[in-house]
Amino acid sequence: MIYTIGGIKGGSGKTTIATNLAVLLASKKRDILLVDADDQESATDFTAFRNQTLDGILDYTAVKITGSDLNGQIRRLADKYDDIIIDVGGRDTVSQRSALTVSHVALFPFAARSFDIWTLNKVNALLNEVLPFNPTLLSVTFINKADSRGNYKDDAAELLKSSDKLVFLNTPLGNRIAFANAAAEGLGVIELKPADEKAVLEFKELVKGIEKSLKSRKLKV
Ligand SMILES: Nc1ncnc2c1ncn2[C@@H]1O[C@H](COP(=O)(O)OP(=O)(O)OP(=O)(O)O)[C@@H](O)[C@H]1O
Ligand SMILES: [Mg+2]
Repeated sequence: MIYTIGGIKGGSGKTTIATNLAVLLASKKRDILLVDADDQESATDFTAFRNQTLDGILDYTAVKITGSDLNGQIRRLADKYDDIIIDVGGRDTVSQRSALTVSHVALFPFAARSFDIWTLNKVNALLNEVLPFNPTLLSVTFINKADSRGNYKDDAAELLKSSDKLVFLNTPLGNRIAFANAAAEGLGVIELKPADEKAVLEFKELVKGIEKSLKSRKLKV
């Protein structure tokens, strides 16, 4: 399965989700390629920390690929891995567009804040342009860094549900420091000790939701 973690707004949690997905799927003994398609290279930095933490025994492969030929590179790599996870930058880039044309699933996390949610129209417009090149792309959205208090989250959810391009998953990730703490050590949230059980459960529920959507599209996970 080829996943792109995308969006138009910086800081929505793309790299956090991409790296945690890589760690979770690798823990299920899947052969994973994590592709850093962002010049900020956060996924690459994460992998370097992880390599140190794991004493040089990495459990997934990571490469950096950017540019308009990303789709061609990914097509060449697709048969060699069980899953490819592409982490793109927080803007509408050539790399993101190229990644979306070869992905089976696109994940669009949104932080539940106005400035973030206002970029929904831009994500819809981006998908309008990409879908003719990849009509079977499954585009999924969910809330990240959800605040447990206030109506913000519900308002944001209503807006996300209104998009006819996106499948809304009601499996938000809370605003949990465990994600940052784990990343700082090159770990996924499922590996952090002491564990933040809520963060682990939320992340697993999100992945289950994605897998369910893929299955309902008859895409083999
Ligand atoms: N669910 C969460 N709870 C708490 N902090 C989070 C959560 N998700 C992400 N963060 C934090 O938010 C910040 C931005 O996350 P991240 O780097 O994953 O976003 P991004 O979308 O990849 O950003 P960019 O657009 O710059 O690539 C990081 O400090 C990260 O630790
Ligand atoms: Mg990032």
